Amino acid sequence: MTDITTTAERPITEEADFLRIRSIDHLRFWVGNAKQAMHFWWKGFGFTPVAYSGLETGNRRSASYVLESGKIRFVVTAAYSPTDEIAAHQMLHGDGVKHVALGVDDVEHAYKATTERGAVGVWGPRETRDDNGTLRTSAIRTYGEVIHVFIDRTDYKGAFAPGYEPLDLPARGAGLEAVDHVVGNVQLGKMNHWVDFYHRVMGFRQLLHFDNQDIGTEYSALMSKVMQDGTGRIKFPINEPAEGKRKSQIEEYLDFYMGPGVQHIAMASGDILATVELLRARGIEFLRVPDQYYDLMADRVGEINEPWEEIAKQGILVDRDDEGYLLQIFSRPIQDRPTAFIEVIERHGSRGFGKGNFKALFEALELEQEARGNL
Ligand code: FE2
Repeated sequence: MTDITTTAERPITEEADFLRIRSIDHLRFWVGNAKQAMHFWWKGFGFTPVAYSGLETGNRRSASYVLESGKIRFVVTAAYSPTDEIAAHQMLHGDGVKHVALGVDDVEHAYKATTERGAVGVWGPRETRDDNGTLRTSAIRTYGEVIHVFIDRTDYKGAFAPGYEPLDLPARGAGLEAVDHVVGNVQLGKMNHWVDFYHRVMGFRQLLHFDNQDIGTEYSALMSKVMQDGTGRIKFPINEPAEGKRKSQIEEYLDFYMGPGVQHIAMASGDILATVELLRARGIEFLRVPDQYYDLMADRVGEINEPWEEIAKQGILVDRDDEGYLLQIFSRPIQDRPTAFIEVIERHGSRGFGKGNFKALFEALELEQEARGNL
């Protein structure tokens, strides 16, 4: 048996970073009602709707809206027919992330290289065309029912993809600029399997490791390993539940999502105070840590640029490590089921994930879990 931790920590070489991912091109949610989901991201989180595909554009299968905020692109898609795969997915999981699409230069190479290393293919290299050019994609499976779509836009100049028409709707930006990380929840005992997948199949390496000691409270324990690509721009932490006195927050997710899936998407803001104030004013709900958190915070993290009173007023969390500090906040679940949520993050040198906040955060989370009858 190979030692997964050791192999995952092997330094990246040219060969290991064979995928050369350009960006997270988009995240596609499969939802029950794309029009209403579009309004949530638009009026709530400040994404601008930029493209649409549906009956009016000749798409008789599904309705999709493409939304952008800074470099972040979300797509929400819902089926017209109850027999569609999208409808079945939504029935089983509720709303959730289906595609984590990665921009690459060569979708054929990405497909061949990953499937040769053991990835399960979803579709092989494929071209779709319209008057705006040619879009190239291929796709492989990852944890749960989530897939990685490889996408090459070099020869495509349209709004999003063939079959989509541009929308002209007013921007309501809230300052969300880029995807910082996308976290997956997997079953107990499966974290190392997916860590190994991202290392062996995708050429990622392990950046960090959190165990029970770091992030256990009495109840909400989890284990987490952070995988990152060769460029360091793409970060995919993988969580699994850890044994606690009662139900782990990861178990609650797995029970309600009916399996593994995307737990949270962290998005960077250059001014988290302004972003969170705006989001709160629009009705976005965030987890609240106990007030005592702020009594101890100055001692724990030292000097920061932002005024303490403002940080406390907005309920923002602060953590510091050797490289700097970070500001972060977590939303309540963004759909009926206690599954996916959003993190807003502003980094000042720190490349961490807010380890120092885990305890306070999980205690806040457990209060909510208890209110849902799931502890
Ligand atoms: Fe996070």
